[in-house]
Amino acid sequence: MKALAIAAGIVAVLLALPAEAQFAKVEDAVKYRQSALTVMGRHFGLIGAALKGDIPYKAEEVAKNADIVAFMSHLPWPAFVAGSDTDKSKAKAEIWSEADKFRQLTETLQTRTADLADIAKAGDQAAVKAAFGKVGETCKECHDHFRAK
Ligand code: HEC
Repeated sequence: MKALAIAAGIVAVLLALPAEAQFAKVEDAVKYRQSALTVMGRHFGLIGAALKGDIPYKAEEVAKNADIVAFMSHLPWPAFVAGSDTDKSKAKAEIWSEADKFRQLTETLQTRTADLADIAKAGDQAAVKAAFGKVGETCKECHDHFRAK
């Protein structure tokens, strides 16, 4: 029984560890999230270019890029650690003062990018375009509110 209680205590401590425990320095967190956002942005942009006809539309490539975007949509957010609105970052203080709204937008992004990835596998270009638009609205809403110009 005692061992169980100790184990439960250890789990509780681990769960309580703040996300910032993974980053030694605030600058590391900023670099990490900007890198993740850059990768996500690159692959989202490639889908946009294919939809616009700037590059050939290849359903298989679009589906691959949509999978990458959906995966990447999970990575940046734990790196928004408190106090990381440094001069190397465009993060606005509202990210922390309106944390619920920010978190909701990250969840909306994850839902919508997962939808985009599913739809891209089915290959219907008009449906991909609509789903792409929904994701784009989410990027814009968050940037308008939480990212400095
Ligand atoms: C929940 C809010 C949120 C959502 C949703 C969001 N972003 Fe961002 N994005 C940010 C913030 C905040 C920054 C500024 C980060 C920084 O400089 O520390 C940023 C920065 C970026 C950057 C610049 C990275 C750099 O090197 O400075 C790119 C590119 C980007 N976002 C692309 C996207 C795309 C594409 C989408 C949608 C598919 C998206 N973002 C969705 C909040 C968001």
